[in-house]
Amino acid sequence: MKILVTGGAGFIGANFVYYELNNHREDEIVCLDKLTYAGNLETLTAAFSNPKFKFYKADICDREEIERIFDAEKFDVVVNFAAESHVDRSIENPEIFLKTNIIGTQVLMDASRKFNVKRFHQVSTDEVYGDLPLDRPDLFFTESTPLKTSSPYSSSKAGADLLVNAYHRTYGLPTTISRCSNNYGPYQFPEKLIPLMIANALENKPLPVYGEGINVRDWLYVEDHCKAIDLIIRKGKVGEVYNIGGHNEMRNIDIVKLIIKELNKSEDLIVHIEDRKGHDMRYAIDPTKIHNELGWLPETKFADGIIKTIKWYLDNKVWWENIISGEYKNYYDKAYKERIEKAK
Ligand code: NAD
Ligand code: TYD
Repeated sequence: MKILVTGGAGFIGANFVYYELNNHREDEIVCLDKLTYAGNLETLTAAFSNPKFKFYKADICDREEIERIFDAEKFDVVVNFAAESHVDRSIENPEIFLKTNIIGTQVLMDASRKFNVKRFHQVSTDEVYGDLPLDRPDLFFTESTPLKTSSPYSSSKAGADLLVNAYHRTYGLPTTISRCSNNYGPYQFPEKLIPLMIANALENKPLPVYGEGINVRDWLYVEDHCKAIDLIIRKGKVGEVYNIGGHNEMRNIDIVKLIIKELNKSEDLIVHIEDRKGHDMRYAIDPTKIHNELGWLPETKFADGIIKTIKWYLDNKVWWENIISGEYKNYYDKAYKERIEKAK
């Protein structure tokens, strides 16, 4: 089988490339990535030495180039990870989110139709369901929870999901969609909560917690997400949506304190800064469907996964230090400097 992985130089896409190369040695993996600020070829260094792996630098919105690649490669399966993925950036500049996340998905689906792809899998997010109240721990997102988004990011992902369903119903494109909760693990860009807190703590920099830090996210180790997608593309039912999550809800402030403790740092580093606009309170996935239909269960407990992740960032300092010394520094200063000053 030949699988196209778009966005494979990013966090989850790269982990998926390695998961496939390690677990399905017979399959060919082609990665296509625009290499935006979030894409990093260094992440794929080990994959390049595998003869079953190939890479294209391309934009999923570039119809001509995408068709040329589909024509040349004749993919069996397309897994679309490529996206603008950071909520805070979407609040500052929504447009690129609409382009990449919606138009890019459409271009990929058109090419999938034209070149008879057998499965188009859209990697979506639990954020399309909006948020849940903190005082209703009995509520969870199921696949039939209505889409009700909060941020430009989640709205663009929901737009893409609707379009995927339309391509299935209207044109019979064999699609599946997965909606996963927050991921953590190796190769996550240090603008996201967990790697940002690890990197800042290691450098004794302030740890910027939005508001009181009582927002809840449902954390899943990235390899468990990859395993779920792998099951869906091989055994999932066409036209279906699968929620992915491991019932691991944590408040942001508790995650930050745990990282501080593991790194032997002081809680004095915590700074409560002005909250994110429209900040979702709680995400919580009900994974009953994927468990019952495909037998998926998460393997890595948070207590182990977070230690593995911290160790990975300690062992791979060069990887993230290269990132935070580049363009990211401008983003960080713009996003945080004033808010941290104000909070002091
Ligand atoms: P990421 O930002 O780390 O990586 C995104 C990748 O897509 C980068 O390599 C980037 O260069 C590439 N890309 C961006 N625009 C592109 C374009 N126009 N053409 C080609 N490539 C492009 O993101 P991530 O955290 O790995 O997320 C991957 C997918 O999983 C996204 O679709 C996201 O919505 C979804 N998701 C993420 C999480 C999470 O916790 N990170 C949870 C659920 C779902
Ligand atoms: P993030 O990693 O951006 O993921 P998402 O917003 O997609 O869930 O943020 C996770 C949570 O951490 C979210 O509630 C916002 C919060 N947060 C902070 O408190 N400080 C930060 O510097 C960042 C990046 C996030």
